[in-house]
Amino acid sequence: MSVLIKGGTVVTADQTLRADILCTDGKIVQIADNINQPGGFKEIDAGGQYVMPGGIDPHTHMQLPFMGTVASEDFFTGTAAGLAGGTTMIIDFVIPNPQQNLMEAYRQWREWAEKSVSDYSFHVAITWWDDTVHRDMGILVREHGVNSFKHFMAYKGAIMATDETLVNSFARALELGAVPTVHAENGELVYRLQNDLFSTGISGPEGHPLSRPPEVEGEAANRAIRVAEVLGVPVYIVHVSARQALEAVTRARNEGQRVFGEVLAGHLLIDDSVYRDTDWGRAAAHVMSPPFRPKEHQAALWKGLQAGNLQTTATDHCCFCHDQKAMGREDFRKIPNGTAGVENRLEVLWHHGVNTGRLTMNEFVRVTSTNAAQIFNVYPRKGSISVGADADLVVWDPEATKTISAKTHHQKVDFNIFEGMTVKGCASHTISNAELVYADGELMVEKGAGRYVNRPPYAPFYDAVKKQAQVNAPMPVKR
Ligand code: URP
Ligand code: ZN
Ligand code: ZN
Repeated sequence: MSVLIKGGTVVTADQTLRADILCTDGKIVQIADNINQPGGFKEIDAGGQYVMPGGIDPHTHMQLPFMGTVASEDFFTGTAAGLAGGTTMIIDFVIPNPQQNLMEAYRQWREWAEKSVSDYSFHVAITWWDDTVHRDMGILVREHGVNSFKHFMAYKGAIMATDETLVNSFARALELGAVPTVHAENGELVYRLQNDLFSTGISGPEGHPLSRPPEVEGEAANRAIRVAEVLGVPVYIVHVSARQALEAVTRARNEGQRVFGEVLAGHLLIDDSVYRDTDWGRAAAHVMSPPFRPKEHQAALWKGLQAGNLQTTATDHCCFCHDQKAMGREDFRKIPNGTAGVENRLEVLWHHGVNTGRLTMNEFVRVTSTNAAQIFNVYPRKGSISVGADADLVVWDPEATKTISAKTHHQKVDFNIFEGMTVKGCASHTISNAELVYADGELMVEKGAGRYVNRPPYAPFYDAVKKQAQVNAPMPVKR
């Protein structure tokens, strides 16, 4: 299909202008003031609306096998839900079991993702270490378009990476021109606190945040950042939820270190009172890691986003239904960790960010799309509105209102953490690869239409870092 978007105001990370946009063969082919209908193009009336780059959610977990179950949302339903909310690309995670061959896990996730309806890419988690992992990281970067590797510093006894694995993998990422990313929580402390709490009789969801206090996150974020500093590699901290972790990111950035921070829509908007809900199911539905925090952390996170110390927003979309959460009915340590949000990220951030004056519209585009495209090296193909870029666009109606509910969302999960929130500003149309895939509440998606997106490494930058390190190295002393 070819699409002509007429009459809208184009909003990108760096400008706002009146223009029509012509899209065909998957690409944006013309951006101009008054494009005449060339014939055969589906025309979208964007009068009174904004046209922005489609959202990129750099942190999702579709159909993730995790904590004895599998996330209820698969790549088909999850990417469709994303499109309904204006998100046109996700970056999901391949998570090998410890000792599992990396390439085997990668192929498995690629197969699962074939049913995606929007474009997608993968970070690959490093959960263990040996020579084959070292080798396969190279194969993934050089032959499969993977330029980021994830490290879980928590989930002891499952997918947690030890410090040894972290150091080996960060050093390898530097060689390859890839970005290490971390889930920053001290897994040893979490394990200890979980067991202490349980043995004193705390078995309900209220034990979850108590076992993962902000200091546990701050320590791990600081450790990962200092490891990256010593090795000279950039680092990206996923789901920064606590002031202590944000301070570690901010401190390092102020010192000139290349550190990136991601914040979840949920962590910006939901506080820890959800764990004191007397309804077990509702409290358990909010169990995710890191947990929702006391309100003062949200204020800090908004400031971090405004100041540019946090660059991206994500959802960590990882859905478990009520019957899955019930696996931890007697023991909070067994409640599958995860919450949804891929469909709602843009609208809740617009409402609470742009409508409140916390973010300009251009900053909104930056933190929902452009920065992720740049950090993960798919810019300007994604995250921009420019001739030759992928025609992944959202037409945004700033006057539309809706009340978010699990009863009406497209996400395949029976709970919504934003339930009952009324937002002003929503996607009216979503265009993916020059196809109109969502219009006024209706999805028009084709299973498998989404494409795997290769993300090349940053080799020239890393070569330069290595050269600089050689220049800075102390001269050998002659004796
Ligand atoms: O609770 C969460 N976040 N579940 C998904 C796995 C992770 O830690 O990102
Ligand atoms: Zn995580
Ligand atoms: Zn995650």
